[in-house]
Amino acid sequence: MNELKKVITLKDLWDARATLPTPIGLVPTMGFLHEGHLSLVKRARSELASVVVSIFVNPTQFAPTDDLNAYPRDLERDIALLEKAGANLLWMPTPEIMYPPDYQTWVNVDKITKPLEGKKRPGHFRGVTTIVAKLFNAIQPQVAYFGQKDAQQVAVIKQMVRDLNMPIEIIASPIIRERDGLAMSSRNTYLNPAERQAALVLSKSLEAAKSAYQNGERNAQILRVKMEEVINAEPLARLEYISCADYDQLNEIEKIEKKTLLSMAVYIGKTRLIDNEVLG
Ligand code: PAJ
Repeated sequence: MNELKKVITLKDLWDARATLPTPIGLVPTMGFLHEGHLSLVKRARSELASVVVSIFVNPTQFAPTDDLNAYPRDLERDIALLEKAGANLLWMPTPEIMYPPDYQTWVNVDKITKPLEGKKRPGHFRGVTTIVAKLFNAIQPQVAYFGQKDAQQVAVIKQMVRDLNMPIEIIASPIIRERDGLAMSSRNTYLNPAERQAALVLSKSLEAAKSAYQNGERNAQILRVKMEEVINAEPLARLEYISCADYDQLNEIEKIEKKTLLSMAVYIGKTRLIDNEVLG
């Protein structure tokens, strides 16, 4: 089994970081790890000399109405999974380390944070970019791995890295799904059995749109309507948004001509789920 060093304080992080062979890959997470997270760790392990994982449930990316305290946690299990996946260093900072009293500095990415998730979750991306910039500064990885599951998050991080001249390569890795198609997510644990079944409408609606696209459909509105129909047919599902947007800037389009992102947020009962698919 791999030797996983676990640290909390900045001093311990820096000491441990200094002993790691480079290049170093970082996988930032909020813990409660599943195969989606672990696919990033394993990929980093296979591509680079060292892998650092962070676990921090970042309060600033949750809205006051989100139940931050209810976010699932299981540190012991996470540590066992990371040892098995081959991570070298785990940083688990406390909220006081990341946001000491009188904290004043924020990273704000502009245009690309406005649509989709940004529109529905005001302030969310400011929290994400701030914490990711802080993780990058403290760990100084050469490469950082993110899941395509959070497609807008990857696009926002790439924009931040470009705009702030951060010397870090950002890698987006494919969505890992359950056997029946549901995208893995820590939030899936909130679903009761009926909701778990109903949650299949997200991947099913994306499949329906993708198959229309593969059969030659290029009208974005027709794809949106197809996805909506699948979701609205499920009584436990409530659609929050559905999008067919250009992959680079995430603006809604009329006609599909280049790389395109289909994405959605859907409430299944009280649980908010997201999913997406890239076309072209
Ligand atoms: P978290 O939701 O814990 O996700 C950590 C990483 O795992 C993210 O890059 C996410 O996209 C990826 N991931 C989650 N589910 C996945 C799946 N089914 N397949 C592939 N990758 C998946 O995203 C965050 O944490 C936070 O916003 C964070 C970046 C850590 C900043 O706080």
